[in-house]
Amino acid sequence: MQARINGIDMFYEESGAGIPILWVHGFPLDHSMWKPQLDGLVDCARNIAPDLRGFGRSEVPPGSSGMDLFADDLRALIDYLKLEQVVLAGLSMGGYIAMAFARRYPARLRGLMLIDTRAGADSPEAAQARRDNAARVRAEGVAPIAEPMLAKLLSATTRTQQPALAQALRDMLYSAPPMGVANALTGLADRPDSLLGLAAVAVPTLVVVGSDDEITPPADARRIAAAILHARLVEIPQAGHMANWEQPEAFNQAAREFLARLTHAEP
Ligand code: MLT
Repeated sequence: MQARINGIDMFYEESGAGIPILWVHGFPLDHSMWKPQLDGLVDCARNIAPDLRGFGRSEVPPGSSGMDLFADDLRALIDYLKLEQVVLAGLSMGGYIAMAFARRYPARLRGLMLIDTRAGADSPEAAQARRDNAARVRAEGVAPIAEPMLAKLLSATTRTQQPALAQALRDMLYSAPPMGVANALTGLADRPDSLLGLAAVAVPTLVVVGSDDEITPPADARRIAAAILHARLVEIPQAGHMANWEQPEAFNQAAREFLARLTHAEP
């Protein structure tokens, strides 16, 4: 489906009925990374999975895509869908965006899921590397960032036991629009530290991490969970940076339990 929001055309996919969950993809991916949730949680949630600006089938507008701008797009999508509140679920960059959203629009949150993500900003060196990569991607396409990422995104177990999944991920990375990727890289480089702000998160929060996540390891998830009042942490064995995709049954089980607690209004 297509929505005109915040000055851009945004694509999103929907499934199911129930409590609305907005699933926010990681970098440099698209809504299709949420297929196991779009298919597997139809009985308990209204799943909404957008392509962020610059990715998938959404418009690729010029200019840096900062985390606040992505968050504003999501607020506009929620308005468009006439939803008062949502559960916001973000993986990695999607998590950085969810934390920006929580700062800007706390009243629109029913709950948070922060998945394989971190609260810290980039070091000056990491931020510079992102800006250098943005220039390379504009000139050469996505290959310079795709190969190093592909080597780290999935756990060793997933790489050996689920080769089709690894191939699907490769296809997703290589289909990302270079200009959208470069715009997100500069936005990622500029993002602020979110850790202190997490103390203000008042909604129930589920923090999920793959035990073998090399990009945002379990220590990052523990830091987030410790900073949020009503947070629960679930570590998913044999999963890397894409816990929802690599171990969908364990992930969906954790999501179901979280939603059950939410709808029974327990903290
Ligand atoms: C992601 O998966 O969204 C990225 O690894 C985030 C990042 O590069 O910091």
